[in-house]
Amino acid sequence: MDYKLSEFGKRFAGKIGITELMDDLGAALSADPAPLMLGGGNPAHIPEIQAAARKRMEAILAQPGEFERLIGNYDTPQGAMPFLEALAELFQQTYGWDVGPENFALTNGSQNAFLSLFNLFAGEFSGGQKRKIMLPLTPEYIGYTEVGLTSDFFTARRPEIQMLDEHLFKYRVDFDGLEIRDEVGALCLSRPTNPTGNVVTDEEISRLRNLARSAGKPLILDNAYGAPFPYAMQTEVKPVWDEDLILCLSLSKFGLPTLRTGIVLASKEIIRLVSRMTSVFSLAPGSLGPALALDLVRSGEILRLSKEVIRPFYGDKSKRAVDQLKQELEGLPYAIHKPEGALFLWLWLDQLPITSEELYQRLKRKGVLIVPGHYFFPGLNEIWDHKNKCIRITFAQDNKVVALGLSIIGEEIRSLF
Ligand SMILES: Cc1ncc(COP(=O)(O)O)c(C=O)c1O
Repeated sequence: MDYKLSEFGKRFAGKIGITELMDDLGAALSADPAPLMLGGGNPAHIPEIQAAARKRMEAILAQPGEFERLIGNYDTPQGAMPFLEALAELFQQTYGWDVGPENFALTNGSQNAFLSLFNLFAGEFSGGQKRKIMLPLTPEYIGYTEVGLTSDFFTARRPEIQMLDEHLFKYRVDFDGLEIRDEVGALCLSRPTNPTGNVVTDEEISRLRNLARSAGKPLILDNAYGAPFPYAMQTEVKPVWDEDLILCLSLSKFGLPTLRTGIVLASKEIIRLVSRMTSVFSLAPGSLGPALALDLVRSGEILRLSKEVIRPFYGDKSKRAVDQLKQELEGLPYAIHKPEGALFLWLWLDQLPITSEELYQRLKRKGVLIVPGHYFFPGLNEIWDHKNKCIRITFAQDNKVVALGLSIIGEEIRSLF
């Protein structure tokens, strides 16, 4: 039967960047031979983290009735109270923030938190007015792209490009002409940034907070890779929070992506709204993530594992990947974004004679998956050549896979100059 789709439904029938990407990655996993997966955002399997999760699961199974309670009872829409209390205590003790369990809500992955938060602040308003989510710095996370329930949902800005040396650069927020008009409902940025590995500086965050506060708009900080967990970050930052900030965290990049546990830290009013939205969208957040992580948060072990295991793990991988990529591209015109966090290298090939989409297709034929850069500019509709001259390379896979992938990438790029 050829059913008619709503305008909303049609959006999912068309081309969606993140869906294509997930499909490509899924197909890749079942292909034989499996391609070298330098494309996805799957975190690495880190033995110490997996051992901690296994140990906790065994403790749950060993406790009579605990497993049955865990799989048999819905949590409240806000999430498991013991976990919310443990989170509040962790943030009070670590940063001295004045927060209680009423400042936290769990969601089914932080992706779901963005669905709720973005649509709270942007979309249609009374009197026919429309408001948008402002992304003050692109490139930005591909997963934001289709989250708006109405069309024309984002307004985004180009970055300022700061060359740090001949082959290293950093995107900066371009404050020149950055005005937060009435049409903006909220601002959002990921820090560390997916796809670039950028860690927006404390000074930039402070300026953005001031601008947002003066305009009376919330600033949403996507902390999926940040402090205090999972700490997939090589630079020091000063974590901040107040009631004008909405901080989104996740257990995914800590190493538990399938448990779909997102954490929102915000004012009580916003937490109440997010919890109500969870009750409508999915009744309740899943219970397994908070149950597995409860002891880690209560004991503070999550902070130690993040800083002592996850941080150096990705730091080492990032350094290896950069060192090799520099060798592979020696003598060619290229620049790498300063790798400060997350799981990715962002490579800018300004003089590439083809688009990054074509480069992606060529690499796919050679058995290597990367992600072409143009996907990472949600809301930046203007024509800008830079969008088609960058690629994202994930370095979370096994070192041998990354090394082989990088050598094929290097060879292919060299053949194009
Ligand atoms: C920047 C960023 N934010 C949010 C997410 C969503 O993660 P999850 O829904 O697994 O918490 C991701 C996933 O890759 C991400 O890279």
